[in-house]
Amino acid sequence: MTDPRTSSSPGRAPDWLELDLRHLWHPYTQMKTAPPPIPIFRGKGVWLETADGRRILDGISSWWVNCHGHSHPRLNEALARQASELEHVIFAGFTHEPGARLAAELVARAPGDLTRVFYSDDGSTAVEAAMKMAYQAWRHRGEPQRTLFIALDDAYHGDTFGAMAAGGVAAFHGAFSDLFCEVRRVATPTSSHRADCGEDLQTLLDREGERVAAVLVEPLVQGAAGMLMHPPDFLHEVRRLTRQHGVPLIADEIFTGFGRTGRFFACEYPPDGLDFGVVEPDLLCVSKALTGGYLPLAATLATDELFDTFLSDDRSRTFFHGHSYTGNALACAVGLESLKLFDEEQRMTRVGELAALFGERLEHLAGHPRVKTTRGMGAIAALEVEPEGAGGYLDDLGPRLYGAFLDRGVLLRPLGNVVYFLPPYVVTDDEAHRVFDAIEEVLGEL
Ligand SMILES: Cc1ncc(COP(=O)(O)O)c(C=O)c1O
Repeated sequence: MTDPRTSSSPGRAPDWLELDLRHLWHPYTQMKTAPPPIPIFRGKGVWLETADGRRILDGISSWWVNCHGHSHPRLNEALARQASELEHVIFAGFTHEPGARLAAELVARAPGDLTRVFYSDDGSTAVEAAMKMAYQAWRHRGEPQRTLFIALDDAYHGDTFGAMAAGGVAAFHGAFSDLFCEVRRVATPTSSHRADCGEDLQTLLDREGERVAAVLVEPLVQGAAGMLMHPPDFLHEVRRLTRQHGVPLIADEIFTGFGRTGRFFACEYPPDGLDFGVVEPDLLCVSKALTGGYLPLAATLATDELFDTFLSDDRSRTFFHGHSYTGNALACAVGLESLKLFDEEQRMTRVGELAALFGERLEHLAGHPRVKTTRGMGAIAALEVEPEGAGGYLDDLGPRLYGAFLDRGVLLRPLGNVVYFLPPYVVTDDEAHRVFDAIEEVLGEL
Protein backbone atom coordinates (compact mmCIF):
# COMPACT_ATOMS: atom_id res chain seq x y z
CA MET A 1 0.00 0.00 0.00
CA THR A 2 1.34 3.41 -0.85
CA ASP A 3 0.96 6.28 1.57
CA PRO A 4 -1.46 8.79 -0.01
CA ARG A 5 0.63 11.61 1.35
CA THR A 6 3.75 10.44 -0.46
CA SER A 7 2.04 9.14 -3.56
CA SER A 8 0.91 12.60 -4.63
CA SER A 9 2.37 16.05 -4.77
CA PRO A 10 1.07 18.53 -2.17
CA GLY A 11 -2.31 19.89 -3.16
CA ARG A 12 -2.77 17.13 -5.75
CA ALA A 13 -5.00 14.09 -5.74
CA PRO A 14 -3.27 10.82 -4.72
CA ASP A 15 -2.46 8.50 -7.62
CA TRP A 16 -4.84 5.78 -6.35
CA LEU A 17 -7.83 8.07 -6.84
CA GLU A 18 -7.59 7.14 -10.53
CA LEU A 19 -8.16 3.49 -9.49
CA ASP A 20 -11.22 4.51 -7.50
CA LEU A 21 -12.64 6.41 -10.45
CA ARG A 22 -12.00 3.51 -12.78
CA HIS A 23 -13.21 0.64 -10.57
CA LEU A 24 -15.43 1.66 -7.69
CA TRP A 25 -19.22 1.94 -7.49
CA HIS A 26 -20.07 4.08 -4.45
CA PRO A 27 -23.27 3.76 -2.38
CA TYR A 28 -26.18 6.18 -2.84
CA THR A 29 -24.17 7.91 -5.55
CA GLN A 30 -25.23 8.81 -9.09
CA MET A 31 -21.94 7.82 -10.65
CA LYS A 32 -22.51 9.92 -13.77
CA THR A 33 -23.02 13.29 -12.11
CA ALA A 34 -21.44 13.03 -8.66
CA PRO A 35 -18.19 14.93 -8.15
CA PRO A 36 -15.13 12.70 -7.59
CA PRO A 37 -14.99 11.32 -4.03
CA ILE A 38 -12.76 13.10 -1.55
CA PRO A 39 -9.73 11.03 -0.55
CA ILE A 40 -9.40 10.86 3.24
CA PHE A 41 -6.22 9.59 4.84
CA ARG A 42 -6.84 10.32 8.49
CA GLY A 43 -9.61 10.91 10.99
CA LYS A 44 -9.17 12.33 14.48
CA GLY A 45 -12.02 13.38 16.76
CA VAL A 46 -14.59 15.14 14.59
CA TRP A 47 -12.02 15.97 11.91
CA LEU A 48 -11.32 14.22 8.64
CA GLU A 49 -8.09 15.06 6.86
CA THR A 50 -7.98 14.96 3.09
CA ALA A 51 -5.07 13.68 1.08
CA ASP A 52 -4.26 17.24 0.02
CA GLY A 53 -4.12 18.49 3.60
CA ARG A 54 -7.59 20.03 4.10
CA ARG A 55 -9.61 19.43 7.26
CA ILE A 56 -13.30 18.63 7.11
CA LEU A 57 -15.55 18.55 10.18
CA ASP A 58 -17.58 15.33 10.13
CA GLY A 59 -21.02 16.79 10.86
CA ILE A 60 -22.91 13.57 10.14
CA SER A 61 -20.81 11.11 12.17
CA SER A 62 -19.93 9.32 8.93
CA TRP A 63 -23.48 8.17 8.18
CA TRP A 64 -24.60 8.30 11.82
CA VAL A 65 -22.20 5.67 13.15
CA ASN A 66 -19.49 7.56 14.98
CA CYS A 67 -20.17 8.62 18.57
CA HIS A 68 -16.72 8.90 20.23
CA GLY A 69 -14.87 10.65 17.40
CA HIS A 70 -12.57 9.13 14.81
CA SER A 71 -9.56 7.11 15.89
CA HIS A 72 -10.30 7.09 19.61
CA PRO A 73 -7.22 5.72 21.45
CA ARG A 74 -9.30 3.40 23.66
CA LEU A 75 -11.09 1.86 20.68
CA ASN A 76 -7.81 1.58 18.76
CA GLU A 77 -6.29 -0.27 21.69
CA ALA A 78 -9.28 -2.60 22.09
CA LEU A 79 -9.12 -3.43 18.41
CA ALA A 80 -5.38 -4.13 18.44
CA ARG A 81 -5.66 -6.20 21.62
CA GLN A 82 -8.42 -8.34 20.17
CA ALA A 83 -6.65 -8.71 16.80
CA SER A 84 -3.63 -10.15 18.54
CA GLU A 85 -5.81 -12.82 20.23
CA LEU A 86 -8.58 -13.77 17.83
CA GLU A 87 -9.85 -11.86 14.81
CA HIS A 88 -12.80 -14.05 13.84
CA VAL A 89 -14.22 -17.50 14.23
CA ILE A 90 -17.35 -19.17 12.85
CA PHE A 91 -20.19 -18.30 15.27
CA ALA A 92 -22.25 -21.47 14.76
CA GLY A 93 -21.00 -24.09 17.20
CA PHE A 94 -18.26 -21.72 18.49
CA THR A 95 -18.20 -18.60 20.62
CA HIS A 96 -15.82 -16.10 22.23
CA GLU A 97 -15.59 -13.80 25.22
CA PRO A 98 -16.23 -10.41 23.56
CA GLY A 99 -19.33 -11.82 21.82
CA ALA A 100 -20.78 -13.16 25.07
CA ARG A 101 -19.87 -10.10 27.15
CA LEU A 102 -21.25 -7.64 24.60
CA ALA A 103 -24.52 -9.60 24.48
CA ALA A 104 -24.83 -9.39 28.26
CA GLU A 105 -24.14 -5.63 28.19
CA LEU A 106 -26.75 -5.06 25.50
CA VAL A 107 -29.34 -7.07 27.40
CA ALA A 108 -28.59 -5.09 30.56
CA ARG A 109 -29.08 -1.76 28.78
CA ALA A 110 -31.97 -2.64 26.49
CA PRO A 111 -35.49 -1.50 27.35
CA GLY A 112 -37.79 -4.21 28.70
CA ASP A 113 -37.36 -7.94 28.73
CA LEU A 114 -35.05 -8.58 25.84
CA THR A 115 -32.81 -11.47 26.79
CA ARG A 116 -31.49 -12.96 23.54
CA VAL A 117 -29.00 -11.34 21.18
CA PHE A 118 -28.65 -12.38 17.54
CA TYR A 119 -25.68 -10.79 15.76
CA SER A 120 -25.58 -9.74 12.12
CA ASP A 121 -23.56 -7.29 10.07
CA ASP A 122 -25.41 -4.01 9.55
CA GLY A 123 -28.70 -2.25 10.16
CA SER A 124 -30.48 -3.80 7.20
CA THR A 125 -29.62 -7.34 8.24
CA ALA A 126 -30.65 -6.64 11.85
CA VAL A 127 -34.10 -5.64 10.54
CA GLU A 128 -34.19 -8.56 8.13
CA ALA A 129 -33.46 -10.95 11.00
CA ALA A 130 -36.15 -9.33 13.19
CA MET A 131 -38.80 -9.63 10.45
CA LYS A 132 -37.86 -13.25 9.77
CA MET A 133 -37.91 -14.10 13.49
CA ALA A 134 -41.34 -12.54 13.97
CA TYR A 135 -42.67 -14.30 10.88
CA GLN A 136 -41.22 -17.73 11.65
CA ALA A 137 -42.29 -17.56 15.30
CA TRP A 138 -45.93 -17.33 14.16
CA ARG A 139 -45.47 -20.50 12.12
CA HIS A 140 -44.17 -22.22 15.24
CA ARG A 141 -47.15 -20.94 17.22
CA GLY A 142 -49.52 -22.42 14.64
CA GLU A 143 -50.60 -19.11 13.06
CA PRO A 144 -49.00 -19.23 9.59
CA GLN A 145 -51.63 -16.82 8.21
CA ARG A 146 -49.73 -13.95 9.88
CA THR A 147 -47.79 -12.78 6.84
CA LEU A 148 -48.54 -9.07 6.90
CA PHE A 149 -46.24 -6.39 8.32
CA ILE A 150 -47.26 -2.90 9.39
CA ALA A 151 -44.80 -0.03 9.09
CA LEU A 152 -44.92 3.75 9.30
CA ASP A 153 -45.29 6.29 6.54
CA ASP A 154 -41.86 7.57 5.47
CA ALA A 155 -40.12 4.68 7.24
CA TYR A 156 -36.57 3.66 6.44
CA HIS A 157 -35.27 0.31 7.66
CA GLY A 158 -32.48 -0.51 5.20
CA ASP A 159 -31.83 -1.74 1.69
CA THR A 160 -32.32 -5.52 1.79
CA PHE A 161 -35.67 -6.87 0.61
CA GLY A 162 -37.59 -7.21 3.85
CA ALA A 163 -36.23 -3.90 5.10
CA MET A 164 -37.02 -2.20 1.78
CA ALA A 165 -40.57 -3.55 1.86
CA ALA A 166 -41.04 -2.03 5.30
CA GLY A 167 -39.53 1.24 4.06
CA GLY A 168 -41.82 4.02 2.92
CA VAL A 169 -39.53 6.37 1.01
CA ALA A 170 -40.35 5.74 -2.65
CA ALA A 171 -37.27 7.60 -3.91
CA PHE A 172 -35.07 4.89 -2.40
CA HIS A 173 -36.95 1.68 -3.04
CA GLY A 174 -39.85 2.33 -5.41
CA ALA A 175 -38.05 0.53 -8.26
CA PHE A 176 -38.27 -2.77 -6.38
CA SER A 177 -41.82 -2.57 -5.07
CA ASP A 178 -43.14 -5.44 -7.24
CA LEU A 179 -40.88 -7.80 -5.31
CA PHE A 180 -41.93 -6.81 -1.79
CA CYS A 181 -43.77 -8.79 0.89
CA GLU A 182 -47.12 -7.39 2.01
CA VAL A 183 -46.87 -4.26 4.16
CA ARG A 184 -49.56 -1.82 5.29
CA ARG A 185 -48.63 1.68 6.26
CA VAL A 186 -49.68 3.86 9.18
CA ALA A 187 -49.43 7.64 9.43
CA THR A 188 -47.29 9.21 12.13
CA PRO A 189 -48.07 12.55 13.78
CA THR A 190 -45.45 14.07 11.48
CA SER A 191 -46.25 12.19 8.29
CA SER A 192 -45.96 14.17 5.12
CA HIS A 193 -48.97 12.25 3.73
CA ARG A 194 -51.03 12.29 6.90
CA ALA A 195 -54.03 13.90 5.27
CA ASP A 196 -54.18 11.24 2.54
CA CYS A 197 -53.22 8.28 4.62
CA GLY A 198 -56.18 5.93 4.87
CA GLU A 199 -55.62 3.80 7.92
CA ASP A 200 -54.50 4.49 11.40
CA LEU A 201 -53.11 1.67 13.47
CA GLN A 202 -56.22 1.03 15.53
CA THR A 203 -58.46 0.55 12.47
CA LEU A 204 -55.88 -1.56 10.75
CA LEU A 205 -55.36 -3.86 13.71
CA ASP A 206 -59.11 -4.14 14.33
CA ARG A 207 -59.61 -5.18 10.72
CA GLU A 208 -56.52 -7.23 9.92
CA GLY A 209 -54.85 -7.89 13.30
CA GLU A 210 -55.10 -11.67 12.90
CA ARG A 211 -52.96 -11.51 9.78
CA VAL A 212 -50.24 -9.28 11.20
CA ALA A 213 -46.78 -10.74 11.84
CA ALA A 214 -45.30 -7.58 13.40
CA VAL A 215 -45.35 -3.79 13.50
CA LEU A 216 -42.10 -1.95 12.80
CA VAL A 217 -41.24 1.51 14.08
CA GLU A 218 -38.30 3.88 14.17
CA PRO A 219 -38.84 5.20 17.69
CA LEU A 220 -39.27 8.99 17.88
CA VAL A 221 -37.05 9.97 14.94
CA GLN A 222 -37.35 8.84 11.32
CA GLY A 223 -33.85 9.71 10.23
CA ALA A 224 -33.66 8.98 6.52
CA ALA A 225 -37.11 10.49 5.93
CA GLY A 226 -35.62 13.86 6.92
CA MET A 227 -35.22 13.66 10.71
CA LEU A 228 -39.00 13.59 11.19
CA MET A 229 -39.77 13.56 14.90
CA HIS A 230 -42.86 12.30 16.65
CA PRO A 231 -43.77 12.59 20.32
CA PRO A 232 -43.19 9.70 22.77
CA ASP A 233 -46.97 9.48 23.21
CA PHE A 234 -47.29 8.09 19.71
CA LEU A 235 -44.73 5.37 20.39
CA HIS A 236 -46.46 4.43 23.66
CA GLU A 237 -49.79 4.29 21.84
CA VAL A 238 -48.32 1.96 19.20
CA ARG A 239 -47.08 -0.30 22.02
CA ARG A 240 -50.46 -0.24 23.76
CA LEU A 241 -52.33 -1.17 20.59
CA THR A 242 -49.89 -3.88 19.51
CA ARG A 243 -50.11 -5.47 22.96
CA GLN A 244 -53.89 -5.27 22.91
CA HIS A 245 -53.89 -7.19 19.60
CA GLY A 246 -51.08 -9.60 20.56
CA VAL A 247 -48.86 -8.32 17.76
CA PRO A 248 -45.06 -8.10 18.26
CA LEU A 249 -43.42 -4.68 18.06
CA ILE A 250 -40.06 -4.35 16.30
CA ALA A 251 -38.21 -1.22 17.45
CA ASP A 252 -35.58 -0.20 14.91
CA GLU A 253 -33.10 1.79 17.02
CA ILE A 254 -30.35 1.46 14.46
CA PHE A 255 -30.17 5.23 14.15
CA THR A 256 -31.71 6.36 17.44
CA GLY A 257 -29.85 3.92 19.72
CA PHE A 258 -26.73 4.69 21.75
CA GLY A 259 -27.74 8.10 22.97
CA ARG A 260 -28.54 9.97 19.77
CA THR A 261 -31.96 11.19 20.97
CA GLY A 262 -30.81 12.14 24.46
CA ARG A 263 -31.65 8.83 26.15
CA PHE A 264 -29.62 5.70 25.60
CA PHE A 265 -32.53 4.25 23.62
CA ALA A 266 -35.40 6.32 22.26
CA CYS A 267 -37.78 3.69 23.72
CA GLU A 268 -36.81 5.02 27.17
CA TYR A 269 -38.74 8.28 26.76
CA PRO A 270 -41.83 8.24 28.99
CA PRO A 271 -45.19 9.38 27.61
CA ASP A 272 -45.54 13.16 27.43
CA GLY A 273 -46.13 14.70 30.84
CA LEU A 274 -44.96 11.62 32.80
CA ASP A 275 -41.61 10.92 34.48
CA PHE A 276 -41.56 7.21 33.86
CA GLY A 277 -42.70 4.62 31.36
CA VAL A 278 -40.50 2.75 28.92
CA VAL A 279 -41.66 1.23 25.65
CA GLU A 280 -40.73 -2.45 25.80
CA PRO A 281 -40.45 -3.87 22.28
CA ASP A 282 -40.53 -7.59 21.44
CA LEU A 283 -37.61 -7.17 19.09
CA LEU A 284 -34.98 -4.44 19.10
CA CYS A 285 -32.57 -3.76 16.23
CA VAL A 286 -29.26 -1.97 16.85
CA SER A 287 -26.21 -1.28 14.71
CA LYS A 288 -24.44 1.93 13.53
CA ALA A 289 -22.97 3.33 16.80
CA LEU A 290 -22.83 -0.16 18.35
CA THR A 291 -19.10 -0.26 17.59
CA GLY A 292 -18.62 3.48 18.06
CA GLY A 293 -18.43 3.76 14.28
CA TYR A 294 -15.49 1.39 13.82
CA LEU A 295 -16.71 -1.89 12.40
CA PRO A 296 -19.86 -3.33 10.83
CA LEU A 297 -21.87 -5.13 13.49
CA ALA A 298 -25.56 -5.33 14.32
CA ALA A 299 -27.73 -7.10 16.84
CA THR A 300 -31.37 -8.13 16.96
CA LEU A 301 -32.52 -8.55 20.55
CA ALA A 302 -35.50 -10.80 21.27
CA THR A 303 -37.66 -11.76 24.25
CA ASP A 304 -37.54 -15.22 25.81
CA GLU A 305 -41.12 -15.76 24.71
CA LEU A 306 -40.19 -15.34 21.05
CA PHE A 307 -36.89 -17.23 21.37
CA ASP A 308 -38.62 -20.16 23.07
CA THR A 309 -40.88 -20.75 20.07
CA PHE A 310 -37.76 -21.83 18.16
CA LEU A 311 -36.70 -24.43 20.77
CA SER A 312 -37.54 -27.89 19.51
CA ASP A 313 -36.20 -31.39 18.93
CA ASP A 314 -37.32 -30.84 15.37
CA ARG A 315 -34.31 -29.26 13.66
CA SER A 316 -36.47 -27.72 10.94
CA ARG A 317 -37.55 -25.16 13.58
CA THR A 318 -34.05 -23.68 13.67
CA PHE A 319 -33.65 -20.01 12.79
CA PHE A 320 -31.81 -20.58 9.51
CA HIS A 321 -30.20 -17.19 9.25
CA GLY A 322 -26.54 -16.22 9.59
CA HIS A 323 -23.70 -14.40 7.92
CA SER A 324 -20.07 -15.40 7.43
CA TYR A 325 -18.98 -12.61 9.77
CA THR A 326 -21.76 -13.04 12.36
CA GLY A 327 -20.43 -12.17 15.81
CA ASN A 328 -17.08 -10.93 14.51
CA ALA A 329 -14.72 -10.87 17.49
CA LEU A 330 -12.97 -7.61 16.54
CA ALA A 331 -16.29 -5.80 16.19
CA CYS A 332 -17.61 -7.22 19.49
CA ALA A 333 -14.45 -6.21 21.36
CA VAL A 334 -14.68 -2.66 20.03
CA GLY A 335 -18.42 -2.59 20.81
CA LEU A 336 -17.71 -3.53 24.42
CA GLU A 337 -15.09 -0.81 24.76
CA SER A 338 -17.46 1.68 23.16
CA LEU A 339 -20.08 0.94 25.83
CA LYS A 340 -17.45 1.50 28.54
CA LEU A 341 -16.67 4.90 27.02
CA PHE A 342 -20.32 5.90 27.38
CA ASP A 343 -19.96 5.47 31.13
CA GLU A 344 -16.37 6.50 31.71
CA GLU A 345 -16.37 9.58 29.47
CA GLN A 346 -19.93 10.64 30.40
CA ARG A 347 -21.23 10.67 26.86
CA MET A 348 -24.88 11.06 27.81
CA THR A 349 -24.09 14.19 29.84
CA ARG A 350 -22.43 15.62 26.77
CA VAL A 351 -25.44 14.74 24.60
CA GLY A 352 -27.59 16.73 27.06
CA GLU A 353 -25.29 19.75 26.72
CA LEU A 354 -25.32 19.48 22.94
CA ALA A 355 -29.11 19.33 22.96
CA ALA A 356 -29.19 22.69 24.77
CA LEU A 357 -26.68 24.30 22.40
CA PHE A 358 -28.47 22.91 19.33
CA GLY A 359 -31.80 24.16 20.70
CA GLU A 360 -30.52 27.73 20.98
CA ARG A 361 -29.02 27.79 17.52
CA LEU A 362 -32.11 26.18 15.97
CA GLU A 363 -34.33 28.75 17.62
CA HIS A 364 -32.35 31.48 15.94
CA LEU A 365 -32.39 29.65 12.59
CA ALA A 366 -36.16 29.20 12.77
CA GLY A 367 -36.54 32.92 12.04
CA HIS A 368 -34.53 32.75 8.82
CA PRO A 369 -36.65 33.55 5.74
CA ARG A 370 -35.35 30.48 3.85
CA VAL A 371 -36.06 28.11 6.73
CA LYS A 372 -39.43 26.38 6.67
CA THR A 373 -39.13 24.60 9.99
CA THR A 374 -36.56 23.34 12.49
CA ARG A 375 -36.48 20.31 14.78
CA GLY A 376 -34.05 19.02 17.36
CA MET A 377 -33.70 16.20 19.84
CA GLY A 378 -30.59 15.03 21.71
CA ALA A 379 -27.59 15.36 19.42
CA ILE A 380 -29.70 15.88 16.30
CA ALA A 381 -30.37 19.28 14.78
CA ALA A 382 -32.40 19.54 11.58
CA LEU A 383 -33.91 22.28 9.48
CA GLU A 384 -36.08 22.19 6.42
CA VAL A 385 -35.05 24.74 3.86
CA GLU A 386 -37.76 26.14 1.56
CA PRO A 387 -37.41 23.83 -1.44
CA GLU A 388 -36.70 25.20 -4.89
CA GLY A 389 -38.40 22.30 -6.64
CA ALA A 390 -40.86 19.75 -5.34
CA GLY A 391 -38.87 19.14 -2.12
CA GLY A 392 -38.16 15.62 -0.91
CA TYR A 393 -34.98 13.58 -1.19
CA LEU A 394 -34.40 14.30 -4.87
CA ASP A 395 -34.69 18.08 -4.53
CA ASP A 396 -31.68 19.63 -6.32
CA LEU A 397 -31.08 21.81 -3.31
CA GLY A 398 -29.45 18.82 -1.53
CA PRO A 399 -26.35 18.49 -3.73
CA ARG A 400 -25.97 22.28 -3.94
CA LEU A 401 -26.02 22.70 -0.19
CA TYR A 402 -23.67 19.72 0.23
CA GLY A 403 -21.10 21.41 -2.01
CA ALA A 404 -21.48 24.76 -0.27
CA PHE A 405 -20.88 23.18 3.15
CA LEU A 406 -17.83 21.27 1.90
CA ASP A 407 -16.40 24.54 0.56
CA ARG A 408 -16.54 25.71 4.18
CA GLY A 409 -14.82 22.59 5.53
CA VAL A 410 -17.98 20.98 6.89
CA LEU A 411 -19.45 17.61 5.94
CA LEU A 412 -23.24 17.90 6.02
CA ARG A 413 -25.18 15.68 3.63
CA PRO A 414 -28.70 17.11 3.34
CA LEU A 415 -31.59 14.76 2.74
CA GLY A 416 -33.08 16.75 -0.13
CA ASN A 417 -34.05 20.10 1.37
CA VAL A 418 -33.52 18.91 4.97
CA VAL A 419 -30.18 19.96 6.42
CA TYR A 420 -29.16 18.11 9.55
CA PHE A 421 -26.21 18.26 11.91
CA LEU A 422 -25.47 15.06 13.75
CA PRO A 423 -21.88 15.08 15.00
CA PRO A 424 -19.89 12.62 17.10
CA TYR A 425 -20.75 13.44 20.72
CA VAL A 426 -17.18 14.60 21.39
CA VAL A 427 -17.71 17.70 19.25
CA THR A 428 -16.71 20.81 21.22
CA ASP A 429 -18.98 23.84 21.62
CA ASP A 430 -16.69 25.85 19.32
CA GLU A 431 -16.82 23.19 16.64
CA ALA A 432 -20.59 22.94 16.89
CA HIS A 433 -20.97 26.73 16.62
CA ARG A 434 -18.71 26.70 13.61
CA VAL A 435 -21.10 24.31 11.86
CA PHE A 436 -24.17 26.42 12.70
CA ASP A 437 -22.28 29.52 11.48
CA ALA A 438 -21.58 27.70 8.20
CA ILE A 439 -25.28 26.81 7.91
CA GLU A 440 -26.27 30.45 8.44
CA GLU A 441 -23.69 31.63 5.93
CA VAL A 442 -24.84 29.17 3.27
CA LEU A 443 -28.51 30.05 3.85
CA GLY A 444 -27.60 33.71 3.47
CA GLU A 445 -26.21 33.00 0.03
CA LEU A 446 -29.20 31.06 -1.30
C1 LIG B 1 -33.56 3.39 11.19
C2 LIG B 1 -32.62 2.67 10.28
N1 LIG B 1 -32.77 1.36 10.10
C3 LIG B 1 -31.95 0.65 9.31
C4 LIG B 1 -30.91 1.26 8.63
C5 LIG B 1 -30.02 0.47 7.73
O1 LIG B 1 -28.75 0.35 8.28
P1 LIG B 1 -27.51 -0.05 7.36
O2 LIG B 1 -27.26 1.12 6.46
O3 LIG B 1 -26.40 -0.28 8.33
O4 LIG B 1 -27.88 -1.28 6.62
C6 LIG B 1 -30.72 2.64 8.78
C7 LIG B 1 -29.64 3.33 8.07
O5 LIG B 1 -29.61 4.52 7.95
C8 LIG B 1 -31.60 3.37 9.63
O6 LIG B 1 -31.49 4.68 9.80
